[in-house]
Amino acid sequence: MAFDDFRSFVDCLRAAGEVVEINRPIALDDVGKVMKRAQAQSGPSVVFNDNGTNFPLICGVYGDRRKALIAFETSSSELFQKVLHGLDNPIPPRVMDGRPPCQDIVLQGADIDLSALPVPQYSPVDGGAYITPGIVVSKDPETDIPDIGHYRFLILSKNTFSFSAQPFHRFGKNLAKYKKLGQKARAALVIGVDPILAYTCQVQVSDTTNDWHVAGGLRGAPVELARCVTSDLHVPATSEFVIEFEVDMDDLVMEGPLGEYTGYYTPPSPKPVATVLAITHRKSPMFQGLLTGKPITESHLLKQIPFEASLFRTLKAQYPTITDISVRASAGVSFYVVIAMQPRFAGEARQVILSAMGTNVRPKWVIIVDPDIDVHSSSDVEWAMAFRVQPARDAIVIDHIPAGPSDPSIDDPKIDRPMRTASAIGIDATRPYGKPFSQVADVPGWAEFDVPELKSRG
Ligand SMILES: Cc1cc2nc3c(=O)[nH]c(=O)nc-3n(C[C@H](O)[C@H](O)[C@H](O)COP(=O)(O)O)c2cc1C
Repeated sequence: MAFDDFRSFVDCLRAAGEVVEINRPIALDDVGKVMKRAQAQSGPSVVFNDNGTNFPLICGVYGDRRKALIAFETSSSELFQKVLHGLDNPIPPRVMDGRPPCQDIVLQGADIDLSALPVPQYSPVDGGAYITPGIVVSKDPETDIPDIGHYRFLILSKNTFSFSAQPFHRFGKNLAKYKKLGQKARAALVIGVDPILAYTCQVQVSDTTNDWHVAGGLRGAPVELARCVTSDLHVPATSEFVIEFEVDMDDLVMEGPLGEYTGYYTPPSPKPVATVLAITHRKSPMFQGLLTGKPITESHLLKQIPFEASLFRTLKAQYPTITDISVRASAGVSFYVVIAMQPRFAGEARQVILSAMGTNVRPKWVIIVDPDIDVHSSSDVEWAMAFRVQPARDAIVIDHIPAGPSDPSIDDPKIDRPMRTASAIGIDATRPYGKPFSQVADVPGWAEFDVPELKSRG
């Protein structure tokens, strides 16, 4: 059974020895340093209890695969199948009767104060304190289909903040529709939810998909929703915090810089101002932080599993002999994709390259390998690239396709985002189809061969 809420997940992490509590004062601007240390030691989540606000701050809950296995309540070998099964079996949400826990406390008007929340500035050149793990709940104003996705918010004042929604992400598309209709958009930023909802945000689905159904499928149970206080949107009933807001697309402010998931700062640019209409929260709530910046951080690890599962599902429908897919956290997740497959005819690996480049993942590097190559092993992939590839024959470069988000190699602030194009490279590192190839010179049977003298070395 899925977690009811964020705090039961944190309790489970605690029971597994995955949480460290820091009770001495730590400045919010030092939180990034602590989390970088924790990450370097493939470390625990950290709770900052004395952070100068009334709320404890927990960071690093998506910080490694062990925690993802706890979130999905599965084992390493079953995780991928469990995610694929969930995607194929969506479950609609349920709207809760009565007052939901996320509205135990409702702050409106003069009581709204974003500066009362423990929000760190993670990278020294950032334009200020950014709420990084928040999930935006919005809807398409034409179809009413709800969407959830992660978006970062720069705090501007007690009741305003700003954000950057890429035009090809659904919140960005919804905002463009509100602007066309001449309406202000209403949305909610949700912090502290069942972790499956956070993984759901990173699943790549069509614009007509109701994300609550996807989340239900991945949880194996309906998501419990509650109506917002200031709009007809619905949010998870047990969220720790909900920040309800309105966006005026014509009221712009300079947003940024921000240390991005690429490991580079994106320069400031004009972005809409959002006005907070209500902050609601549970009794004794926990706030959440999330380190981003130079890979690998928990922001990358959060994306990895859903991106691999979405891409696998999309491509497998047309290319059934695909056996495995890896997206590399170290390359910002979406920019570098390795796919193992057994080509069924000459040129099929190239078709897969072109199909992968055509997805919303927008990879810059696509490498196709034979099924005997472990896609998750850099040394296996490099071995294939070294000896199964002739670059003049096996590399394809495609130019002038839509750019991946915030790529500093083409991120020219003078060019409007929807106008930015980039190139992508595909490498067919499979053995040439239907032709003889040298025999692999490995040492078969070594893993099972009993060598008691080596056992003590682990
Ligand atoms: C922690 C985190 C923060 C993110 N922040 C942003 C952001 O500020 N703007 C943006 O356009 N995408 C951001 N993304 C990427 C989107 O959340 C992601 O691509 C998602 O699939 C978009 O969902 P949607 O298209 O359903 O809204 C972020 C991703 C993560 C993991």
